[in-house]
Amino acid sequence: EKGGYPSFMAKEIDEQPRAVADTLLGRSDAAGRLVLDEVRIDPAELAAVDKVVVVSCGTSAYAGQIAKYAIEHWCRIPVEVEYAHEFRYRDPVVDERTLVVSISQSGETMDTLMAVRHARELGARTVSICNTNGATIPRESDAVLYTHAGPEVAVASTKAFLAQITACYLLGLYLGALKGTAAPEVVKEVLDELHAMPEKVQTVLDGLERVREIARFMADSRSVLFLGRHVGYPVALEGALKLKELAYIHAEGFAAGELKHGPIALIEAGQPVFVVVPPPASPHGLHGKVVSNIQEIRARGARTLVIAEEGDEGVVPYAEEVIRVPACPPLLMPLLTVVPLQVFAAELAGAKGLDVDQPRNLAKSVTVE
Ligand code: F6R
Repeated sequence: EKGGYPSFMAKEIDEQPRAVADTLLGRSDAAGRLVLDEVRIDPAELAAVDKVVVVSCGTSAYAGQIAKYAIEHWCRIPVEVEYAHEFRYRDPVVDERTLVVSISQSGETMDTLMAVRHARELGARTVSICNTNGATIPRESDAVLYTHAGPEVAVASTKAFLAQITACYLLGLYLGALKGTAAPEVVKEVLDELHAMPEKVQTVLDGLERVREIARFMADSRSVLFLGRHVGYPVALEGALKLKELAYIHAEGFAAGELKHGPIALIEAGQPVFVVVPPPASPHGLHGKVVSNIQEIRARGARTLVIAEEGDEGVVPYAEEVIRVPACPPLLMPLLTVVPLQVFAAELAGAKGLDVDQPRNLAKSVTVE
């Protein structure tokens, strides 16, 4: 069943171009319009939505954090992203004009299911982004947008994550088109860029030999930090989560802008830090700001492992290692930048002799509170 791969995880990481492609498949027409037939909520009702709340857990919650940047950009309405287990025990401000989007690979996560039930009681419209046909969460939601990653066997999520991010972009564009905040040309342009992503994910996968080497060298690391900014921030969080789950190494992700507010105190000689760099074309000079962060930590002796766009020479002077990804629009970058981090964690865990498919203490589907 592993098709010649050493683990399900290795196979699933390799299946990511396909997971993205299949999630896009059949969801736009020749004219570049979105066709989300499964989202069976009255378009007028969707157009009137004035707030989106995303509820999810773990890796799926990081997909939600990425969705926030995209949906706010295209739809011009606030997006709140909340852990499902926190949402259900607050007194959340949700009403008929709120769209509650749940994201769940399994569709059975109890915390997420209860959050969806809570949202419905409060009168919200609910959309489920889910990888498992006919699971409980999509059945209990008003609408579902299935991710087509195929069955994910390894306990820690990889290909489902890329499919979730892809589905979030589709939902954001769909909502933006209905609201009139995303012009048809914009929708078409982003769709074209999305359709180019599977090949770019493949390019990343094909160039990871050095990352594997670094991971093997680092097998006895005690702590690894991850920095990112904008959509690179949730990618940093996911990189840290993968390393904790698979390799049992202390790992923490930070928003790069937060560095000077505390975490920089952790930096000492030899501390490995992955930095997910926004493309040079990012708005607001974000690229330069993150390059300054790399410079600061490098000056304090950090080992800087930098993930940057092809051709971005600005990072080179301060990077111990540069891991390249193809150029793409800033919002879509997570589909590429997370891949080296997944492979790093899996390879390092393998080097430690751990079972990457079945990490200790974890279950694939968390159906208890
Ligand atoms: C991380 C991981 C978990 C799940 C989380 C939510 O690798 O697998 O953090 O992402 O338990 O699961 P789903 O998406 O099934 O609701």
